[in-house]
Amino acid sequence: MEKTSRFKNLMGFGWKTRHLVAIILAVAGTYGFLELRAQWSEMHRWNRAIGDMSFVMVALSMATGPLSRLIPAFRKLIPFRRELGIYGIILAAIHTMIILIGWVNWDFWRLFGFELHPAGVYVMVQQGFGMANVIGIIALVYGLVLALSSSNWSQRLLGASVWKFLQQSAYVLWMLIVIHTAYFLYFHFLDYHKNTPEPNALQIPFAIMVSTIMLLQLAAFLKTWKLRRNRVMSDQTPITD
Ligand code: HEM
Repeated sequence: MEKTSRFKNLMGFGWKTRHLVAIILAVAGTYGFLELRAQWSEMHRWNRAIGDMSFVMVALSMATGPLSRLIPAFRKLIPFRRELGIYGIILAAIHTMIILIGWVNWDFWRLFGFELHPAGVYVMVQQGFGMANVIGIIALVYGLVLALSSSNWSQRLLGASVWKFLQQSAYVLWMLIVIHTAYFLYFHFLDYHKNTPEPNALQIPFAIMVSTIMLLQLAAFLKTWKLRRNRVMSDQTPITD
């Protein structure tokens, strides 16, 4: 009896449990990604591991909605969407700080693809790098707005419809993150004038994750559409007797 109620409490997932689970996941996942590139220089190793885990947490947060619409057993995971998103964005902020401090040394020209020429002027050398970072910055700012507005307090402050509109546009954030990550996984290191490194080991897992989320969203959309259509049709069926 006592065991059953303890199990029920656990499945009820209070906010402390959800935060704890998200933190453990963030730390364990980052550790795993760090181990994947144990021989790399510290800056790239840490910024990538934290960026990768940020991506995974936002991806899991994106998957909970469609999963719970498709399989009712997953509804229990819906409350986790908030914590997964919040810790995903916290990781993205740390990933950005590492790049600002360890890569471009707070030189914002370099962040946007410029380098200092010996003639004393900044010249554009990496258009793609600059563009991918601009997309990353927009994603981060947008993610911070969503994370800050995802508390019950801001839900009350903004009102249900504004809050829902803001949170439902999270797929825009997801697309920005996908474009940013795809650039660094597939394009950034291809340069005609430099040696091409080994392809990033995460290219295939990334493609699988992004396609899975797209398929889940499509399947959930079709299910909702079918249910609504059936409901409208049954409402319109004339009563014959
Ligand atoms: C929500 C925001 C963001 C997410 C989820 C994110 C995620 C990622 C991911 C997954 C990677 C690929 C890591 C790998 O190659 O395994 C990456 C790379 C990178 N990101 Fe971000 N990022 C975000 C924001 C930013 C911002 C704001 C900046 C710049 C200020 C930035 C700069 C970079 C750079 C320079 C790389 C290449 C890292 C390297 O080669 O060592 N990111 N990011």
